[in-house]
Amino acid sequence: NQLTHITNYSKSEESRHLIQKALLENDFMKHIEGSQILTIMDCMYTTTLAKGCCVIQEGDDGSSVYVLEEGLVEVTKGGHKLCTIEPGTVFGELAILYNCTRTATVTALTDIKLWAIDRQGYQTIMMRTGLLKHSNY
Ligand code: CMP
Repeated sequence: NQLTHITNYSKSEESRHLIQKALLENDFMKHIEGSQILTIMDCMYTTTLAKGCCVIQEGDDGSSVYVLEEGLVEVTKGGHKLCTIEPGTVFGELAILYNCTRTATVTALTDIKLWAIDRQGYQTIMMRTGLLKHSNY
């Protein structure tokens, strides 16, 4: 059953704040219900990557949404630089929210620490909340 596969990962109060703030400031995620924002935050797990690593490759199928906690990443499209992303920012949301391929490449400019949630976890949270609501009617 897809609905049972969500796991909470413990995190510091600082990390919880950083993730929530990042989700609430993202133009594409800030309209998600507060309880869902909290559940997404709870389910994010941490990962680190070394300077120079490609986090996201333009054109790939997307599998995760990320929040940057430490370090800097660069966003490029067709080889042209779009911007630098600083800690406390969501990225990689477009392919998951819109079911499209990755719209840009994201590369680590320094060693980085990320929080991630995969597509299935994200969709399970959105669907489970919808089902719980439905059962209240
Ligand atoms: P996604 O398309 O899943 O993967 C690449 C990510 O780069 C994308 O989600 C956004 O989070 C980010 N991105 C794409 N275009 C821009 C842009 N013009 N400015 C800042 N971030 C971008």
